[in-house]
Amino acid sequence: MVINLLIKKEEMRQKETLMLIPSENYAPKEVRQALCSMLNNKYSEGYPGKRYYQGNKYIDEIELIAIESAKKLFGVPHVNVQSYSGSPANSAVYMALLNPGDKILGLALSSGGHLTHGHPKITFSGKFFQSFQYEVGKDGFIDYDALEKYAKKVKPKIVIAGTTSYPRKLEWPRFSQIADNIGAILLADISHIAGLVVAGVHPSPARYAHVITTTTHKTLRGPRGALIMVTKKGLRKYPDLGKKIDRAVFPGLQGGPHNSQTAAIAISLQKALTLDFKKYAKQIVLNSKALAKALKNYGFDLVSDGTDNHLILIDLRSKEILGKDFAIKLEKAGIIVNYNAIPKDPNPPANPSGIRIGTPAITTRGMKEPEAKIIADFINRVQKGDSSNNVRREVKALCKKFPIS
Ligand SMILES: Cc1ncc(COP(=O)(O)O)c(C=O)c1O
Repeated sequence: MVINLLIKKEEMRQKETLMLIPSENYAPKEVRQALCSMLNNKYSEGYPGKRYYQGNKYIDEIELIAIESAKKLFGVPHVNVQSYSGSPANSAVYMALLNPGDKILGLALSSGGHLTHGHPKITFSGKFFQSFQYEVGKDGFIDYDALEKYAKKVKPKIVIAGTTSYPRKLEWPRFSQIADNIGAILLADISHIAGLVVAGVHPSPARYAHVITTTTHKTLRGPRGALIMVTKKGLRKYPDLGKKIDRAVFPGLQGGPHNSQTAAIAISLQKALTLDFKKYAKQIVLNSKALAKALKNYGFDLVSDGTDNHLILIDLRSKEILGKDFAIKLEKAGIIVNYNAIPKDPNPPANPSGIRIGTPAITTRGMKEPEAKIIADFINRVQKGDSSNNVRREVKALCKKFPIS
């Protein structure tokens, strides 16, 4: 069957190339096995103990294990594990808390925010709500003073603190103070950094935000999926917030949960509770810092001049190549990155001035700082015009030394 052949080819591609897209990772075999299990066959609209279909005894147990693991891992009192992915999770939060036309305030896409944080005109969050956007300053860091001023002026119902291409730590106490001062709800979208948060490598928003969303497939290394969490602070402000979120997910936005995904989430959350996972998350950041340092030594400009987390945003303007053109060249050499806008990008999103690279997947392969330096050397050689075939051969050899299971 042609699809089976294409799946095999994709497996080979993943094995033989360097996966440097910060939102990608290699999910463990047990997670992938759960995803293609017979749980896929079951319909389970509703929640554990309150299903609209019979035959959910084991599904209930699985969903409860996923919920309890998430509560423990993130230190929160209420979790919904049914969102199909990160975008529907954010939509569910808006549905639970907002009316059409209410004001939301999120980080602009060009400053490292996500589409679902109110990107104007073309997105659900930008079309159905009055969306306002804050930005990073000239130094590439979130300008909290400017955000505070803007928040006071706009008075949004929700402030969204979350990032998709921001290489620095988020200052949760500052976000919390800004949102609290205007009586707004603080939504922390930690999709990218969840693995770092649970490992204690990045501060947790649990004491500061009212609601936390995260995808489960990035640094958390699980299946594609999402968690919506209500914190103690959230329940203090709105005692029925958990119920509202659950109702927004089902029946508000979705029908039956994807049970195979729920089981895979439970498995990955249990893995994330281990000491091994803590070591893994620490190494992600060590690798990212080593890669950033080596790239700087090769003369690459980094937005904010470095990184605190799993990702690096390279400003390519001084190298006189555009992001998409460079990403294509790198792909020819077996290095997979994504082109990305930089703050105040003078070039269009279709071929912006930056590329975004990250270390979660290479760290899963077991690579450490020496390999991060080798990868920086590969990237530099491609930029300098070395033959992509030469680099590709070396990339393949490196990948072979760090197999994925
Ligand atoms: C911060 C953030 N929120 C939400 C999402 C959306 O997740 P998904 O692509 O699973 O819908 C992403 C995905 O990259 C993200 O980075």
